[in-house]
Amino acid sequence: MEHIHSIEALRERIKSIKAQGKTVGFVPTMGYFHEGHLSLMRTSKAKTDVTVVSIFVNPTQFGPGEDYETYPRDVERDLMLCEAQGVDIVFTPSVTTMYPEGYSTYVETEGPMTKALCGASRPGHFKGVTSVVAKLFLIVAPHYAFFGQKDAQQVAVVEKMVRDLNFETIIVPCDIVREADGLAMSSRNVYLSAVERQEALVLNQALQLAKQALADGERSAAHIKARMTDHIHTAKSASIDYIDVVSAIDLQPIERLEGDVLIALAVRFHKTRLIDNLRIRL
Ligand code: PAJ
Repeated sequence: MEHIHSIEALRERIKSIKAQGKTVGFVPTMGYFHEGHLSLMRTSKAKTDVTVVSIFVNPTQFGPGEDYETYPRDVERDLMLCEAQGVDIVFTPSVTTMYPEGYSTYVETEGPMTKALCGASRPGHFKGVTSVVAKLFLIVAPHYAFFGQKDAQQVAVVEKMVRDLNFETIIVPCDIVREADGLAMSSRNVYLSAVERQEALVLNQALQLAKQALADGERSAAHIKARMTDHIHTAKSASIDYIDVVSAIDLQPIERLEGDVLIALAVRFHKTRLIDNLRIRL
């Protein structure tokens, strides 16, 4: 496995890999790996010849007062996990490599898609995501890039950016990986106290309640949201940021569930904000 810090060195390597006619798969991450990240790496390895993983805690996607400084980091452990997965190249640029003094160019997907769901409570977040993903795509120029459905809105926004800017990279959405008890894996789960960790189970439980209601024929978004809200309120430390039922295609709210639907939620357990979702084709 190669560990590369500089943009120039990575570009050279990618050039020679492509000259050999090999396909490049890319998994962008902020590190502190769990099974969710590792599953993306395995999917990339199965689909492409060479897998590149980036580890970069991107400051521009964190708002003021968010957890940029305290975001968990352990690059040594991450490198060992990449090696064990058979990753070919790990790219770990510094903040000044990505954003040198005087940096001032951003990529922003405008419109309702980035205002919905997490966009409402995290203004500027998706601008930071699309800017860094665009930069990484221009550096790595991958044939395929692998993103987790855990961040469903991120996948939709990145796919929109790729369409709008004619990137050649094909986005491959990958299933959500969960703990045995159903909690979606997240680097932020380490912030939870033992009590909060237990209470956080209400997220997936609420999504499963919605799934069951749909199986029973319920189609009203308001009814489904009400049932989910009641369940989440059984957790004392939970405060709901949003529970939304939207079209999975454009992320706009729907009143009756039909077609390709995304039920998405964000809930705070004291200081820790967790997201989860369920995508259903009806
Ligand atoms: P990060 O949170 O490190 O996530 C990296 C990738 O892992 C994302 O595509 C995310 O959706 C995926 N992932 C996280 N938890 C997952 C889970 N439980 N199951 C499946 N996939 C999961 O997302 C980011 O970093 C950043 O925004 C980034 C795209 C790297 C841009 O900075």
